Amino acid sequence: MTVSLGGLRIVVSAGPTFEDIDPVRFIGNRSSGKMGFAIAAAAARRGADVLLVAGPVALPTPGGVQRVDVRSAAQMREAVLAALPADVYIGAAAVADFTPRFPATHKLKKSAGGDAMLLDLVRTPDILAQVATQARRPRLVVGFAAETQDLARSARGKLHDKRVDMIVANQVGVAGSGFEADDNALTVFDADGSHALGAGPKTQLAERLLDLVHARLQRAGAAPAPNPTIPGPTQA
Ligand code: PMT
Repeated sequence: MTVSLGGLRIVVSAGPTFEDIDPVRFIGNRSSGKMGFAIAAAAARRGADVLLVAGPVALPTPGGVQRVDVRSAAQMREAVLAALPADVYIGAAAVADFTPRFPATHKLKKSAGGDAMLLDLVRTPDILAQVATQARRPRLVVGFAAETQDLARSARGKLHDKRVDMIVANQVGVAGSGFEADDNALTVFDADGSHALGAGPKTQLAERLLDLVHARLQRAGAAPAPNPTIPGPTQA
């Protein structure tokens, strides 16, 4: 049975951010947006009012989802904060941690710096932490953690440091899973401990994550009752 999320407003971030160095170069990462788009699509199918803040990706907008396209971490922050208030925020985006302090307005010449080039980078705002600590805080704030090692320790650290309700951890750097792939393997960390969502298509894992989100909201008295009339997800 698929549980309804009707009546809830859910904001999801997805994809990478691109931080411009000059008009032709940027710092980016390998996020395709598939994980976040799968969550947005599944939430809309369950009747939620979904706003998807998407970094630069090549994916079609899922049915019933409102989408805002952004490029940089600063733009993503602005779009996410403008989308609040919401009942749930799910930060699946791979947001750049650093951005060039002074992006050049003209293409940098390789002849200008000799054999080496130093980039002056500054930290980007932590969107997830800002969402979790502001006055209009969603009832449930869910972050992701992409790790190549020490998955559980890093995830628990982020749960605490960013003051979120759940961290969805994925082991990346494994062939066929994580960044870019259609499949993933997820474990959710929250105040109760850890919940393995297993491995499989991102579309299926999105459904399992939303079941957990629903259960958590229901426990807090904020979720709609299960609605057996919602059709199950289409198999990927
Ligand atoms: O897009 P796909 O190809 O489908 O791949 C999916 C994914 C691997 C990108 C996704 O499942 C995932 O793990 N996303 C988070 C990746 C990440 O950047 O993790 P992080 O450990 O750097 O960040 C932790 C959390 O803080 C994330 O929820 C992130 O959105 C958030 N964050 C990070 C930095 C920042 N400046 N602002 C943030 O909000």
